[in-house]
Amino acid sequence: MELLTKYSQALASHLDSAVTVKEPIQLYEPVKYILTLGGKRLRPVLTLLTADFFGDNYTKAMNAALAVELFHNFSLIHDDIMDKAPIRRGKETVHEKWDINTGILSGDAMLILAYQLFEAYEPAQFQELAKLFSKTALEVCEGQQYDVDFETRDDVTIPEYIKMIDYKTAVLIGAAMKMGAIVAEASERCCQGAYDFGRNLGIAFQLQDDYLDAFGNPETFGKQVGGDIIANKKTFLYLTALKNSKKAEAETLEHLFNINPKDTSEKIETVKEIFQSSGAAKATIAEIEAYTKKANTILETLKLSEEKKEKLRAFGNWLMERTV
Ligand code: IPE
Ligand code: IPE
Ligand code: MG
Ligand code: MG
Ligand code: MG
Repeated sequence: MELLTKYSQALASHLDSAVTVKEPIQLYEPVKYILTLGGKRLRPVLTLLTADFFGDNYTKAMNAALAVELFHNFSLIHDDIMDKAPIRRGKETVHEKWDINTGILSGDAMLILAYQLFEAYEPAQFQELAKLFSKTALEVCEGQQYDVDFETRDDVTIPEYIKMIDYKTAVLIGAAMKMGAIVAEASERCCQGAYDFGRNLGIAFQLQDDYLDAFGNPETFGKQVGGDIIANKKTFLYLTALKNSKKAEAETLEHLFNINPKDTSEKIETVKEIFQSSGAAKATIAEIEAYTKKANTILETLKLSEEKKEKLRAFGNWLMERTV
């Protein structure tokens, strides 16, 4: 997306110089590896964009932006261990390429490197950023724990699912935007508005991540398609399919989410068919649109020019159309 190019280029060059491989190689090489695989870099770009929209010098937000991306990548390394994921961004996951211990420790180092980047800010801003960061990071852990707990529960509700994705994913997107607003010294109301906007987009974002996990194109998706089905993840797709299906199909679905077959292809195919036939796939798309709309309603209350608001709306729509 053109709007994002200048921010992602600036971030990439800062990342290149700020994160280097040194001794012990085994610790830092995986850090460089996962960061070099890139990804969309949405969160740091949002930090820079928000700083730009509320202030006059987005480069001031560069360290906060990089901190957010380091934290995100740390959470991905650990998430891939927890989810037993073989592929990330089209390449081997860190724990597959090295081993689980390497994934744990390199991830830990990234979390600490992220905190260190806030040291570049003056005490008042440092405190505000670090406080938001700590609160958010703890919520991400809580969300991740719910996600794992839900794998073996069969009474998960849709509100519980929404809370889980709010914590594991949405709060970080909200915080990424709020950090940009904090660095730009925006008013408390604007900081909160940026947070709420990002958080609602974040819920839409995770709903779509779940949708793509089932229906993404394996050639381009960059992750193992069907991974959530293999791991019995209680996604909106699953919970809605269960709610909307006739008895026989609901029972099939429940049964499939209670077994862990060696050959997973049949399980994945059957589950995807039920996701479609029950209307759950369509309902998920409608839910993504609903949360994006909610974000746009919040956008209306922000003290930004109509031109900037339009850019943020276009960003939300662009996110909804993504395939990776
Ligand atoms: C993946 O995030 C993890 C989620 C919270 C869904 P992204 O889809 O932003 O991953 P990258 O950074 O672009 O690879
Ligand atoms: C990940 O959710 C959220 C965090 C990493 C905190 P997922 O497990 O759905 O993310 P992917 O699909 O592996 O990227
Ligand atoms: Mg995962
Ligand atoms: Mg996960
Ligand atoms: Mg996912």
